[in-house]
Amino acid sequence: MNKTILCIGAGYVGGPTMAVIADRCPDYKVMVVDIDAGRIAAWQSEQLPIYEPGLNDVVKRARNRNLFFSTDVAAGIREADIIFVSVNTPTKMFGAGAGRASDLQYWEKTARDIIENSDRDKIVVEKSTLPVRTAEAMNRILGSNDKGLHFDVLSNPEFLAEGTAIRDLESPDRVLIGAMETPAGLKAQQVLIDIYTRWVPREKIKTANIWSSELTKLVSNAMLAQRISSVNSISALCEKTAANIQEVSEAIGMDRRIGNRFLRASIGFGGSCFKKDILNLVYLCEHYGLPEVAKYWEQVVLMNEYQEARFVENIIASMFNTIAGKRIAIFGFAFKADTGDTRESPAIYVSRLLLEEHAQLAIFDPKALANAKLELQGVAGQVEYITDPYEAAKGAHAIAVLTEWPEFAEYDYERLYRIMEKPAFIFDGRNVLDHRKLYEIGFNVYPIGQRALAHLEKIK
Ligand code: UDX
Ligand code: UDX
Repeated sequence: MNKTILCIGAGYVGGPTMAVIADRCPDYKVMVVDIDAGRIAAWQSEQLPIYEPGLNDVVKRARNRNLFFSTDVAAGIREADIIFVSVNTPTKMFGAGAGRASDLQYWEKTARDIIENSDRDKIVVEKSTLPVRTAEAMNRILGSNDKGLHFDVLSNPEFLAEGTAIRDLESPDRVLIGAMETPAGLKAQQVLIDIYTRWVPREKIKTANIWSSELTKLVSNAMLAQRISSVNSISALCEKTAANIQEVSEAIGMDRRIGNRFLRASIGFGGSCFKKDILNLVYLCEHYGLPEVAKYWEQVVLMNEYQEARFVENIIASMFNTIAGKRIAIFGFAFKADTGDTRESPAIYVSRLLLEEHAQLAIFDPKALANAKLELQGVAGQVEYITDPYEAAKGAHAIAVLTEWPEFAEYDYERLYRIMEKPAFIFDGRNVLDHRKLYEIGFNVYPIGQRALAHLEKIK
């Protein structure tokens, strides 16, 4: 074997990333460890702990050849030349910076585990998204070992998106590798470059200083989320006027300077990263005495919350100002299509608000029902989790589309209309359905950022 790579943290980032590295570098031994024994057992089984298109094939090719999963963190550290750290960095919920700063306790513990179990120099790679200058703290902790060991800390943020993780890893827009600008740092950087050049063109591998690399990850996510909040803010204006957000998005996206991606109006962005990373950026700006900059970015999160709340207000207002006792079919609970992940999904917030109004929810999602159950555990109200969309819609007053699953557009809406209560409503929180057709079937249709198509409006 060429070198031994270890990844601490077998989550959405660590698992798929290491599987692709092992697949593309058969002469490297790749180990993935996690303190969660259940998760490791799942990685070793036929039923992987996360759903990602293409992941099964990659894991099958490499597992037990040069890709190994284990709970033995100490043994992994001892054997490794290069250690990727991909443990979670949730928003801190206590003490200074509560609700904004990153909780770095897992990180620090990991650094201490590395010192304790190492008997030679190693490269430590930050894969988790971290506040700028975490590497400095990491260096200090690792450098304080009394074994005379030298650790090089690199930053190699992961830009994969869920649902397209394997595609993003196999042909990334760029790979970013930040290093300390010292001879040892640059040498360590080259070790990582040698891994990625096995399948990524050299010109797509960008080197930077370590602080730029850390900051780039936060800013990438903040800018992506900002585009969504910008479009969503305009969707509110469209609903008040005769403008249509889809037409506006398409037309502005044709300007090559703006580009056409990430301009889909929605009930809001979810996922484990956007909110956490923006709040982290906000905290950093406040910390460095830049309140105007902090407020600017905070508004991206506030606009997202406004959009979610607005969606629910619209449902209540359209359904004659009461949804108490009414069955509402929720189509989609995942935070986006092609994943079973529900972390920070707008569906959680929307469902809670609907339940507070005493609606009865019938939740359907092609992949995320198990996670939906966990998210709403302990929430008061009547909720059913249903594995068939037609069953969910039976007797419902409304369908609320909360995830952009493409299959939602393919359902038989004439059949759905027949089995629902009348008047039947559809709130398309993702603009994925054919609104005109639904209206012709008889539905009262409420898209995002477009005027409603409601038979009831005529009666008013
Ligand atoms: C996480 C972070 O949330 C993200 O900011 C970062 O960019 C990459 O790592 P993700 O992989 O989606 O993203 O998180 P998660 O699925 O929660 O995986 C983290 C794993 O680390 C968990 O399986 C957890 O059990 C494990 N872990 C955590 C350890 O093995 N040791 C610890 O001390 C803490
Ligand atoms: C994001 C970043 O894209 C990725 O680079 C980073 O590594 C992790 O965070 P992810 O959270 O997996 O990835 O999903 P993404 O595709 O970015 O979608 C995030 C949310 O925005 C989803 O809820 C999605 O539905 C929503 N979205 C996306 C919109 O509402 N409109 C859009 O136009 C695009």
